Amino acid sequence: MTLKLPTLRRILLGLFGVSTLVGALPDETRRSPADYLSTCQVIATAVSNASDVYYPGLLSLNYAADNAHWAASSSDVSACSVEPGSPADVGLQIVGSTKTPFAVKGGGHASNPGFSSTKGVQISMTRFNQVTNNPAASTVDVGAGLIWDDVYKALDGTGVNIVGGRVPGVGVAGFTLGGGYSWKTNQYGLTIDNIAAYELVLPSGNVTTVTSADNDLWFALRGGGNNFGIVTKFTLKSHPQTAVWGGSVVYSDLEINPLFAAIAKFSSTVTDKKAAILPTIDTEAGGLVSIVLMFYDGPSPPSGIFDDLLAIPSEANSVKTQSFSSFLTSLPSTNPAAGPRALFSSVSVLQYTESLLKVIYNETVYWAARLALLDTSPFVSYDIEPFNPALFSYGSGSAYPPSRAQPLLPTNLYFSWTLSAIDVQVHDAILQSSNTIKAAAVAEGQNVDDASEYGNYALYDTPLQGIYGGNVARLKAIHASVDPQNVMGLAGGFKF
Ligand SMILES: Cc1cc2nc3c(=O)[nH]c(=O)nc-3n(C[C@H](O)[C@H](O)[C@H](O)COP(=O)(O)OP(=O)(O)OC[C@H]3O[C@@H](n4cnc5c(N)ncnc54)[C@H](O)[C@@H]3O)c2cc1C
Ligand SMILES: *[C@@H]1O[C@H](CO)[C@@H](O)[C@H](O)[C@H]1NC(C)=O
Ligand SMILES: *[C@@H]1O[C@H](CO)[C@@H](O)[C@H](O)[C@H]1NC(C)=O
Ligand SMILES: *[C@@H]1O[C@H](CO)[C@@H](O)[C@H](O)[C@H]1NC(C)=O
Repeated sequence: MTLKLPTLRRILLGLFGVSTLVGALPDETRRSPADYLSTCQVIATAVSNASDVYYPGLLSLNYAADNAHWAASSSDVSACSVEPGSPADVGLQIVGSTKTPFAVKGGGHASNPGFSSTKGVQISMTRFNQVTNNPAASTVDVGAGLIWDDVYKALDGTGVNIVGGRVPGVGVAGFTLGGGYSWKTNQYGLTIDNIAAYELVLPSGNVTTVTSADNDLWFALRGGGNNFGIVTKFTLKSHPQTAVWGGSVVYSDLEINPLFAAIAKFSSTVTDKKAAILPTIDTEAGGLVSIVLMFYDGPSPPSGIFDDLLAIPSEANSVKTQSFSSFLTSLPSTNPAAGPRALFSSVSVLQYTESLLKVIYNETVYWAARLALLDTSPFVSYDIEPFNPALFSYGSGSAYPPSRAQPLLPTNLYFSWTLSAIDVQVHDAILQSSNTIKAAAVAEGQNVDDASEYGNYALYDTPLQGIYGGNVARLKAIHASVDPQNVMGLAGGFKF
């Protein structure tokens, strides 16, 4: 009788123990689910007592939490989950030498399938959960397993804060590795413009600290995602924090015309960098609703900034003076509750005119109706993200944006649905809608034909060129030198 190679290998593993054989086998024999499990066992043996490996099972709460993602369509059933408790235990050497697919999860908010989930080894950063304020250095150390809510809570009352996420639940790690559009971006730039250092586990498994002294990795880590290793700690510059003014205001569809006039005016005239808004047009059951999140980085805004928006009759208004942490947690957490599957797509524009807002509105109406024919609980939502045109002036060359010469204001399309059978149709719909918005911006004279899309919102099949533009060649070269075995290629994401 002839045994197939994987079966034989399993028997040998049983006879000789797992760790002696792993790595000695040819790559292609490693790529099957049974092999993933043996990699899990190797990791379990290798790690210190600060770390644990969990397997699927009804009683494994850690396994369930480690595999949970914001969108069901971004959740896979992994062979095991690993919770490393120290940089040395992250396990990149083992997944690398065994060529086992893996994923790294921070806050699990990636909207693209397979970007932070896997059928192989799910590495969850949850034990990197420390926030340390260093007042003397004006920096804050933040563990890569945290969500922003916890960071802001830890800093509440310290008089300082950092440039981070805008709504509840989002992870520090993925957000920061992609760029980071924040409430404080008008004042201080993207989150990547406010980094002092990264603690990084290289694809080799070696642990290093990356600062502005490291030319290439410093450039690559600021926007380049998960291509260069696993970050365990971010050191971020801190800024003074007082009480803030802000909250959410909900408008009915009837107010859409005055609302668009007020948003377009805000987008083109407000120069106070402490002020920011994040308007969303949503389909809710039975119609359209607009929600405008408003923020002023001080106890109360000067008159003239939010007056037009506040003068429009609203259905609900939670705006008040409060701590930054309480402001964040007061905002609606956009879980894809209607349909648990979700996709984002992004269109960069230079400004939000009333005519462009009307195109976006029509897209919302149109695609809500189209998806309602295909799915039981579709939801479509368009985020309009006006920023001060100088937002890119606070940092220097980084993976994203490939050029700081013109501002890129993302429009974030977000579709969610229930039936996996229509995944491809939803992909095509959100892409078509993105193209329509981009064409409308170009038609009104905005120079965005070749504008980069923001990687943290970009649809999974966006070409590297579409995010990183002229930086692609340099980023590929940096990746080749840092990761010659392409270990990070075993994890999903936009790959160099
Ligand atoms: C509701 C919602 C609101 C959002 N709001 C904003 C916003 O205001 N501004 C903005 O800029 N973006 C925003 N985003 C986008 C957000 O930045 C991305 O979804 C980001 O990927 C989330 O990070 P995460 O850690 O939660 O994601 P994860 O899914 O855990 O990870 C995302 C990516 O980062 C990689 N990664 C995670 N941890 C590590 C690590 N330690 N080392 C190396 N790679 C790692 C993963 O492998 C994956 O490729 C929002 C997203 C959602 C769903
Ligand atoms: C973990 O290991 C360290 C040193 O290897 C030891 O000092 C410590 O007691 C161990 N902790 C537990 C809970 O076993
Ligand atoms: C990893 O670190 C060891 C010990 O410091 C060193 O000898 C080795 O060259 C490093 N490997 C890489 C790929 O950097
Ligand atoms: C609304 O959008 C749809 C889909 O993009 C398009 O076919 C239609 O012409 C648009 N209608 C208006 C009035 O712009």
